[in-house]
Amino acid sequence: MSLTITDVTVRRGVGPVISGVSLEVRPGEITTVVGPNGAGKTSLLEAMSGIVPIAAGSIQLDGEEISKTSRRKRSLLGLKHVEQGRMIFPSLTVRENLQLTARSKKDFDEAMALFPELEKRVDSLSVLLSGGEQQMVVLARTFAAKPRYIMIDEMSLGLAPVVFLRLVPVIRGIADSGVGVLLVEQFAQLALQAATDAVVVTGGRVSYHGPATTLLADEQLLRTSYLG
Ligand SMILES: Nc1ncnc2c1ncn2[C@@H]1O[C@H](COP(=O)(O)OP(=O)(O)O)[C@@H](O)[C@H]1O
Ligand SMILES: [Mg+2]
Repeated sequence: MSLTITDVTVRRGVGPVISGVSLEVRPGEITTVVGPNGAGKTSLLEAMSGIVPIAAGSIQLDGEEISKTSRRKRSLLGLKHVEQGRMIFPSLTVRENLQLTARSKKDFDEAMALFPELEKRVDSLSVLLSGGEQQMVVLARTFAAKPRYIMIDEMSLGLAPVVFLRLVPVIRGIADSGVGVLLVEQFAQLALQAATDAVVVTGGRVSYHGPATTLLADEQLLRTSYLG
């Protein structure tokens, strides 16, 4: 069981923005992808969720080839993509945001249980929540849809580090429930601390793939992974 991509190439405009990238996400684990701005991280996730086609390679979800299937089909198969800059529906309450994706009261309750900070705000309009709480609503709404794999693109963007710090255990909780998590971040010390595997993408290629602890311990490598 895994979400596995093998030798994936993505072309955009004149040339490839992703070249021969392979990686794996396993249920219950967090794989973190880091890389400088423009490295191709967002393009990679967009290819995996079906927003852009791949030019070569394969994408397998628990053994099933999905690279030719529609974005909607991939989502129905349990592959969810939290896009960069994704926001809540501001004029809805927290409860209503979750009810958009939860198919049963049980799914709703299980999502709420993972986000105790949201429980007391459940009937607040989402627009009145803090930036960190709004991102929790985005995660809770995605989790309520009962995904098998969640890909999260730069959730820390625009959040104070101390706020993102509160999201990390929540993302850990999502993984602990059995969901495979692919976390994409540019500045990712915190995201790497939560991860099992780390992948560094620079210039559309994998320049490191291995234990997150090894990357965290290598200052030189870590610097290249942020700055290219
Ligand atoms: N819609 C698009 N059309 C053409 N080129 C794009 C598009 N989106 C991104 N790119 C290019 O693809 C490369 C990778 O961008 P992106 O995937 O956004 O990287 P990252 O998320 O790592 O910052 C960049 O050179 C960027 O200019
Ligand atoms: Mg990006």
